Amino acid sequence: MCGIIGYVGNENATPILLDGLRRLEYRGYDSAGVAVFENDDVKIQRTEGKLSNLELALAESPIKGSFGIGHTRWATHGHPTETNAHPHRSGDIIVVHNGIIENYLELKDLLAADGQVFTSETDTEVICHLIDYHYQLNGKDTLNAIRESITKLKGSFAIVIMNAKERNRLYVAKRGSPLVVGETKDARFVASDIPALLPYTKDMLFLEDGDHAVLSSEGIELFDENGANIEREFQHVPWSPLMAEKGGYKHFMLKEIFEQPKIMQDIFTGRVSGARSTIVLDELKGLFDGNKARFDRISIVACGTSLHAAMIGKHMIESLARVPVSVDYASEFRYREPILDERTLVIPISQSGETADTLAAEKLAKERNCPVMAVCNVVGSSITRIADATLYIYAGPEIGVASTKAFTAQLVVLYIFALYLADKLNKIENDILKERVAELLTLPRLLKQALSLADDVMRIAKDISDASNILYIGRRLNFPVALEGALKLKEISYLHAEGFAAGELKHGPIALIEQGTPVVAVVPQDGTYDKILSNIEEVKARGAYTIAIASDQDESISSKVDEVIAVPKTSKYLTPIVAAIPMQLLAYYVADHKGTDVDQPRNLAKSVTVE
Ligand code: AGP
Repeated sequence: MCGIIGYVGNENATPILLDGLRRLEYRGYDSAGVAVFENDDVKIQRTEGKLSNLELALAESPIKGSFGIGHTRWATHGHPTETNAHPHRSGDIIVVHNGIIENYLELKDLLAADGQVFTSETDTEVICHLIDYHYQLNGKDTLNAIRESITKLKGSFAIVIMNAKERNRLYVAKRGSPLVVGETKDARFVASDIPALLPYTKDMLFLEDGDHAVLSSEGIELFDENGANIEREFQHVPWSPLMAEKGGYKHFMLKEIFEQPKIMQDIFTGRVSGARSTIVLDELKGLFDGNKARFDRISIVACGTSLHAAMIGKHMIESLARVPVSVDYASEFRYREPILDERTLVIPISQSGETADTLAAEKLAKERNCPVMAVCNVVGSSITRIADATLYIYAGPEIGVASTKAFTAQLVVLYIFALYLADKLNKIENDILKERVAELLTLPRLLKQALSLADDVMRIAKDISDASNILYIGRRLNFPVALEGALKLKEISYLHAEGFAAGELKHGPIALIEQGTPVVAVVPQDGTYDKILSNIEEVKARGAYTIAIASDQDESISSKVDEVIAVPKTSKYLTPIVAAIPMQLLAYYVADHKGTDVDQPRNLAKSVTVE
């Protein structure tokens, strides 16, 4: 969601802030602004729409100074207008904010009654006035005014504050929304996400809830929620700035789709040994007493694409390790009174590690004393800091809003976990484990083969890009792949698409089929082959245009459907990972053909840090 950047140093702050905001664009936004200290005061420039508008405005009226803050806003309270864009100012206090202040109306009424004048519809402006109010009251002590104010805020926030009367000094505070701090010899930085800091440092300090800090020319002073001076360890982020760039591809999403074979090696290293046919997950030691698991059942919580990975993970774990698994939308989990105890392993799955609903579900699990194992991409993110153990998916930075490589990486990690658990619990014979490990190691080649179908997929994408409704169907492990294919298509092409368990079609959704409605079916040569062929016949009989993602060894499929995307044949566990590739490519090429903003689709944010 909103992007935040702050800089204190010796250079001109404006280009540094703009570069930081550019690197955070992927988070999704609809207006932007900066505040920079120049000639004894802070100057603010804000614009609606994309960063290029802000750059243009700053080119016309440059602001130059050695410290400042920048923000990209994803509208929650109030339209995406210039007046609602951040930074907001009240007196000498200037604020940028990510999150939602739930009691802002109540506070606004109190402050308005005290004579404060509001100019925007945002919840953020309340923070600004509240700090200013305490600042005036307490004899102009900014740090204490911030401390007083944040105790009165309900909801989530990551805020960066400047005081127009204080040089080379930024204040930061966080509860619920992410903030990361970094420094070089001459400068201090703060941002809402890692990529903004990568050009300057890879060692980063991830603020905990309640933390607040002062960033100045002298250094970083960190305090906990009680105001006590504290030190926290910096964490090394193994990403390079280049990894967060397009590298010659038209879009980040396309680059990330094509990175998938390569990242598999990072996932396997140290975990999967072909020579010894073993799976080692040292990170999970704490979840086992010897070979005995400290849990009897598993509950997975996630949102969006990560939820689809969870659904496939459930099949993998139950089928291989025979441990019961439930899967919940993280946003529903807390509200359905889940049955949890200290023998339930809760697995939050999240690419970003900052998704508010997943984080809240994880916190509930911790309150109930459940062991928690996160599956996550971002080192040091909130979800990993709360978990007892983390299985990192090592996908590298994912910038495109539509998740692609993180999805397949999540699937591979869940499969590795399922095999590991099956082995620990003696639910898999050694030769079978050996076969599975050997096959797993072929995955980079299988994914490369699937990617080589890009031109065929592009042709099919052009043919279906005028459709008003597209259905995706699959069975068993491939039903969530159908859900994921439909999600990818809707989020970046804005076409209506739905995924269904193929057997469910005749219970209602088949009514949607008209002459020419595209139906994309995952048709592996497994135990469900005949069943899904019957489902294809049913939609064909009603006029559907059928596209099969089928095995390259299936010689008869081409006579049964209109188009075939022939992916390499593999086991039922790896098929969803391989089938995901053409699904992603299809969505990408439809969107690209339609000319939508593939990497930053309308209304969406990469990391959903509000509920
Ligand atoms: C994926 O394409 C979506 N943009 C979205 O559904 C995403 O997967 C979801 O918001 C969860 O994000 P997370 O994995 O970072 O928690």
